[in-house]
Amino acid sequence: MYKKTEIIRQTFLNFFKNKNHIIYPSSSLIIDNDPTLLFTNAGMNQFKDIFLGYKTTKDKKIASAQYCLRTGGKHNDLENVGYTSRHHTFFEMLGNFSFGSYLKKKSIIYAWELLTEKKWFNIDPNKLLVTIYEYDIESYKIWKNIIGLSNNKIISIKNKNNVQYTSDNFWNMEKYGPCGPCTEIFYDYGESVHGNIPGSKKDIGDRFLEIWNIVFIEYHKLPKKKFIKLKSPSVDTGMGLERISSVLQNVKSNYDIDIFRQIIQGIKKKFNISNKVNHKALQVISDHIRSSAYIIANNVFPSNEHRGYVLRKIIRRAIRHGRSIGLKKCFFYKIVPILIKSMNQANHILIHNKNQIENILKMEELQFSDTLNKGLKILKEEVKNLKNNILDANIVFYLYDTLGFPIDLTQDFCKEKNIQIDMNKLKKKIKKHKKLNIQEKYQNKNKLSISINKKTNFIGYNFSKQKTIVKKIYIENKSINKINKKNKGQIILQSTPFYGQSGGQIGDSGTIKSKDGIFKVYNTTKYGNIIIHHGKISLGKIKKNTLVTAKIDIKKRKLIEKNHTATHLLHAGLKKILGENVLQKGSLVNEKKIRFDYTYFKNLSFKKIKKIEKTVNKYIQKNIKVISFTTKFKNAKKKKYVFLKNKIYQNNVRIISINSISNELCSGTHVSKTGEIILFKIINESSISFGTRRIEAVTYKKAFKETYKKEKKLNTIQKLIQSNDSDLIKKIQNILIMQKKLLKNNKNITEKLLILLIKKISKKYIKINNHYIFFYILYNEKNSYILKIIDQLQKKFQSSVIILINISKKIYLKIKISKKLSKIIPANTLILKIFKKISGKGGGNMNFSEGIINSSLSINKIIKKCKKLTFAKIQKKINNYKFSTKNY
Ligand code: ALA
Repeated sequence: MYKKTEIIRQTFLNFFKNKNHIIYPSSSLIIDNDPTLLFTNAGMNQFKDIFLGYKTTKDKKIASAQYCLRTGGKHNDLENVGYTSRHHTFFEMLGNFSFGSYLKKKSIIYAWELLTEKKWFNIDPNKLLVTIYEYDIESYKIWKNIIGLSNNKIISIKNKNNVQYTSDNFWNMEKYGPCGPCTEIFYDYGESVHGNIPGSKKDIGDRFLEIWNIVFIEYHKLPKKKFIKLKSPSVDTGMGLERISSVLQNVKSNYDIDIFRQIIQGIKKKFNISNKVNHKALQVISDHIRSSAYIIANNVFPSNEHRGYVLRKIIRRAIRHGRSIGLKKCFFYKIVPILIKSMNQANHILIHNKNQIENILKMEELQFSDTLNKGLKILKEEVKNLKNNILDANIVFYLYDTLGFPIDLTQDFCKEKNIQIDMNKLKKKIKKHKKLNIQEKYQNKNKLSISINKKTNFIGYNFSKQKTIVKKIYIENKSINKINKKNKGQIILQSTPFYGQSGGQIGDSGTIKSKDGIFKVYNTTKYGNIIIHHGKISLGKIKKNTLVTAKIDIKKRKLIEKNHTATHLLHAGLKKILGENVLQKGSLVNEKKIRFDYTYFKNLSFKKIKKIEKTVNKYIQKNIKVISFTTKFKNAKKKKYVFLKNKIYQNNVRIISINSISNELCSGTHVSKTGEIILFKIINESSISFGTRRIEAVTYKKAFKETYKKEKKLNTIQKLIQSNDSDLIKKIQNILIMQKKLLKNNKNITEKLLILLIKKISKKYIKINNHYIFFYILYNEKNSYILKIIDQLQKKFQSSVIILINISKKIYLKIKISKKLSKIIPANTLILKIFKKISGKGGGNMNFSEGIINSSLSINKIIKKCKKLTFAKIQKKINNYKFSTKNY
């Protein structure tokens, strides 16, 4: 009966192809424009609008093998991975779907046929049992009368606390969306495996494994527990590929099927891990490499928000488990080739993005390693001294807040060791902390609360001036009838040529004039569909409901337009030079410059930057027409027009089209031909966070200015080194060679001088008994040389006191006393004694002390006093002390 996972996937698809289903490819893990969903979590996601009746399809019967992630929202298995043999963050869901074709009867018959027929999966029917929703009599009858299951094999699952549609056999996609009753098929591993039948209140164990869920989508769930019956019900089914493989490969854990065995064995071999090693950690790593690799392949990178945050959590969890079995920095990315091999037919997207996946995993592990090591060290220490097996919430919070050690990792660590965390206390602490942060953020922030839900008519794509009516005036949040006396405020007009800041483009400035006065607009923003003009009265007054002329600063607008179109060209150029994976993360377009943030994980070489610049300038030189048109969002997507993945768009969207070079969804204002930009110049390229880079650029006159500035600098350099353009590089190279030589010579000479100096000082000692006392004055000597002098003297004169004074901008004092002598004359005591008499600051240890003298006495006096004092002290100490071998 053994079948490879790859064959099982194909057999499923073949079966439904035979039943006239159209085979659809897996959709991306990221469903655009569905804010209810972080990642694709079921095969039916890509058909959501069809289920809800918003869209129709000519394909009434569909089947697919869909990549799914269950790491957040209603379906979240992240915490279970490593603790059960059945859960995954990433898995493949085999599914068949019917839209207005078959319903309950056929879907159940199909499932039974595929599972039990000899020709297909050939599972012993006696090993199968099913659950149904308590009110789904039709399904019950099908299982009983058509399939022939006995009553004890059809388990009815009730609603929870008698609340409608809360049964485990009532499936919901997310909090809201398509839903309906379902019937599930279970495989019985037999009595040898612990477990109770589905639906029992007792521990369900591992004996019965849910392999197939057949959902009858009949409702649309809306907020406030509202369920709307759909006009036409459909069928959505899902069978976890890894689970059905475990049945068909006759193993009791998903982690023992061929593809996981391949990854786990691969890891063991690669990192020389013995067979005794914690299997749990290997399961976590093998699961998490799958999810993180597929997420990155879908162009999501680790970050602190949204999808990037989930990815970060998964990677960090895998790394922690890696460390627990001794896998050192940076192991995780090295598993990618093993994963690719294991996924065989489903690995194209991984192969295509291999470099990107490896680089990102490596960087993330590198970045996180220090925090992880510190955090784990503290955790290990703390759990040694636990009382009642409870970890104090303060520790968890400290790790999180101060060290950046994620709470979920602490939880995972504790779960493994059966340690509890006082979650209530922790939640309270986090809440308090958040409140403080928010307070800080919003302190002094003046927010305008406008309560009109109308629309300002924007005519600024075609006009720069407009006669219009003042609809509202605000001062400090209050709606008023007129604004005067140099007051600051906001004005809302019926229609306006002013562009309200959005989509990265800043707002316009200009004037609003009436017969009574002038309002200077210094910024324009958007509030829903309302455009707000912010400014100040510069003359007279402006009254509500009067006629005004609104006129934008056209010079500024034209500059903004050049920069905005250049931003689109830059985006296109980046994709052309760096690859389609480059995604826009944010932008700012004003009259001065362009700032464009994008995803890319490598440093850009000078050559690459110039190539991008050149590409954009080529587009400019072609003087291509820039046109705008509106279309349906779904058409834009179909045509692969560029849009922001995290933004929600309206049904109708505006496209800025620059021939085939760039087609972007955008509401901004643009030049009419690319030639108007004249010149584009990148002035800065940098990394702003891991995986995100920033380009700053200028256009038109500013671009020329930038070039002149550079030329001027170059010219100054040429003048300084007296060279011309052709021999500039050669000359600089020669200067550098010469400099190197001089430095070397200089070093040799100084070293020779130093030897002479040491020789000289060596002769200037005072001998007391067998001890050598040096007191020497140096001028402007480098610290490193002084230390060398001390070192050499000490080597030569084993029992010595060396006192050096270096006179430069300040007067420095250094005292070195040989080990044995320092027991009777400690260097730190001596320096303090000196500083008692001559004002100064310093300290050290028994052998060595140093400080700065800041006495107001003359240098000569200081030296004299210092010398006298030290000799007196040394003499006294040495004479008082009887040297004997005993004391040595
Ligand atoms: N959509 C159903 C599930 O995910 C089949 O279980």
